[in-house]
Amino acid sequence: MTNKPHSHAQWSSRIAFMLAAVGSSVGLGNIWKFPYMTGESGGGAFVLVYLVCILLIGLPILMSEWLLGRLGQKNPISTMNRIAGRLKRSRAWVLIGVGGILAAWLILSFYSVIGGWALAYIRYSATATFTGLDGASVGTLFSDLLASPGTLLAWHSLFMVLTIAIVAGGVAGGLERASKILMPALVVLLAVLVGYAATTGSFAEGFDYLFRPDFTRLTGDVILAAMGHAFFTLSLGMGIMMAYGSYLSDDVNIGRTAMTVVILDTVIALAAGMAIFPIVFANGMDPASGPGLIFQTLPLAFGHMSGGVIFGTLFFVLLVFAAWTSAISLLEPIVEWLEEKTPLNRLQSALVAGAATWLLGIATVLSFNDWAAFMPFGMTIFDLLDYVTSKFMLPLTGLATIVFVGWFMGRDEVRAQLNMSGLAFAWWRFSARFVAPLGVAIVFVFGLLQ
Ligand code: PHE
Repeated sequence: MTNKPHSHAQWSSRIAFMLAAVGSSVGLGNIWKFPYMTGESGGGAFVLVYLVCILLIGLPILMSEWLLGRLGQKNPISTMNRIAGRLKRSRAWVLIGVGGILAAWLILSFYSVIGGWALAYIRYSATATFTGLDGASVGTLFSDLLASPGTLLAWHSLFMVLTIAIVAGGVAGGLERASKILMPALVVLLAVLVGYAATTGSFAEGFDYLFRPDFTRLTGDVILAAMGHAFFTLSLGMGIMMAYGSYLSDDVNIGRTAMTVVILDTVIALAAGMAIFPIVFANGMDPASGPGLIFQTLPLAFGHMSGGVIFGTLFFVLLVFAAWTSAISLLEPIVEWLEEKTPLNRLQSALVAGAATWLLGIATVLSFNDWAAFMPFGMTIFDLLDYVTSKFMLPLTGLATIVFVGWFMGRDEVRAQLNMSGLAFAWWRFSARFVAPLGVAIVFVFGLLQ
């Protein structure tokens, strides 16, 4: 099949596509969420399940989303509509696209609030607030921030404005170019932090915590959390990767590219863990302290290393950048959908989608202070949003995606898209039909029954 002309642009190169996919997948999920979830779930057992889920479930689903997008050449809803229509399958498959857009809205609403924390921390580090702080005062700094709805709201608003600005303008060439420098810079800085962690004297303990699984910690809930995070960190189950695949040219090898994205994403998460846990143990902190973990550990490192003000500022700038490229990918499908389904133009769509997300974000802002005691289903609003999206919506949409590709599409069509050798394809198809769907289903049932 050659590419037909369509309304979508094409990526300028394979590298540009990779950067966008990596930009979406590498974000707060890797540096903020992965370490604190590992800490809450007790370490190595969570990491092991997470790695297995990434490989056996995440990778084949990522490839499925890309191949669907490349075949459909449209936004996720129209893509599913088009492919299901051509194959004479039920139109109910468009629910994959609908579920994705809803999940994107819910996720971005709290993602932006955390992006706001990172913005606040740029300011703290640039003004040398961390210098000489001990564990207790770093904790106070963080809890004071959370206790102030006005401050959180201001940073959340700034983060949303930054996101809307890029999406309204179409993905600017500038951002693509900036990613080429900033993403590698983030990796370098993480390496510096891992280097610092090695000087704390607790490196081995941190390493052990991450990589030695304690199977007694392996409850259904931990397994469900690890799988949910595999979806979250790879930006799966929301049609985002499908939308990116729609801009993909036919000569790009989906399998190899997916493998590269998965490896980069995983390495960055593990590096964040190796930077953070030694600091946790060296300072007698609690690894299970939750979403504040990196905001309470890294400032200690920056406050004590030489050049900490510069490294700290740079680190939080890069963290914001990583969060920003992910946030853009979360807003994009909502905007694309509004633009095509309503009379609004791109700028108006971006403003409406951004405003709706900003508004919902206020609930997350308040869940850390004024509404902290309001706990529907026993969770704060922030926890509830995270729970519903990561543990339900993403896995279910992802399951539908891979079942569609594995069971409802022709073998030859899928094979032509993936362009794999016979043996590799046989393995892929087996995992798309059995391993990944059964994996999601089992984890799901097992997690819920606990
Ligand atoms: N993958 C991003 C991260 O790890 C978050 C994200 C989730 C982005 C879902 C888009 C879609 O931070």
